[in-house]
Amino acid sequence: MSSSLAKTLAESARSFDSTGSEVDYEPAALRIARPSAKPASGVPVLAGPARLGCRELFKSYQKGSVGIPVLQGVHFDVSDGEFVAIIGASGSGKSTLLHLLGTLDKPDAGEVLFDGNRIDNLPATSRDLLRNRHFGMIFQAYHLLPELTAFENVLAPAYIYESTLGYWAKRKQYRQRAMELLELVGLADRAKHKPSELSGGEMQRTAIARALMLKPEVLLADEPTGNLDRSTGDQVMKTLCELNEKQNLTIIMVTHDPLIAGQADRTVQIAEGRIVG
Ligand SMILES: Nc1ncnc2c1ncn2[C@@H]1O[C@H](COP(=O)(O)OP(=O)(O)O)[C@@H](O)[C@H]1O
Ligand SMILES: [Mg+2]
Repeated sequence: MSSSLAKTLAESARSFDSTGSEVDYEPAALRIARPSAKPASGVPVLAGPARLGCRELFKSYQKGSVGIPVLQGVHFDVSDGEFVAIIGASGSGKSTLLHLLGTLDKPDAGEVLFDGNRIDNLPATSRDLLRNRHFGMIFQAYHLLPELTAFENVLAPAYIYESTLGYWAKRKQYRQRAMELLELVGLADRAKHKPSELSGGEMQRTAIARALMLKPEVLLADEPTGNLDRSTGDQVMKTLCELNEKQNLTIIMVTHDPLIAGQADRTVQIAEGRIVG
């Protein structure tokens, strides 16, 4: 098992070994530094071992007595530090695929692998920890907490990550990072606004800042520029490209916009439930 995934599972006070038995682990220290940066731009990046991938994923939804087949054997890998765009028509299953990769939903068949370890079948608490520690997620529908301000929404992953005492001890550092992220997405002047007091584009940018709060290793972004005008969208893409290039952030981004997809290292096209290009 890779060290990063092992660490996450080790942080679970009551987790499970590969046989399904419960085992006790010790909590680990806060990971705040990022791993090594990518080579300078212009240097070709060799496809390394897969960071996140899936094997023969199948997923259907049931609506009354009608089954809606969405994914029908999706199989692909994303290398460490790669920026991949998933492109496809509306309703082709892009969001469904991203939710499965992020372990928010379970496939009917097939496997999701992180650093070579199967993660789709982990217990719910371990999947929650995995997402909190390693993944940043930007949802198409934002999923901001309505009772929290933009600033508090960005801070939320840190509240979840830490114990009450741990958060209290590092609150200055976290609050500073949350403010820097709001500045990065151009929302410093909306920090005290609740989601109901933000526009769609502002909610989207708050969700982007929140996804970056704990310096994730993998960013799963569902139409992150979908509600932004071209110039704000370009700014967001510039930020994502910089994080990818300078901090080796692995990005899987869903979009229906070929211009946005063209900024990724690689485009994966989905149609009729399968990868077609
Ligand atoms: N919870 C659900 N129940 C039933 N059908 C769903 C559900 N979620 C998505 N679908 C259907 O599955 C298909 C794929 O949806 P989705 O993954 O959101 O597509 P995309 O993100 O590519 O637009 C669509 O036809 C959609 O109507
Ligand atoms: Mg979608």
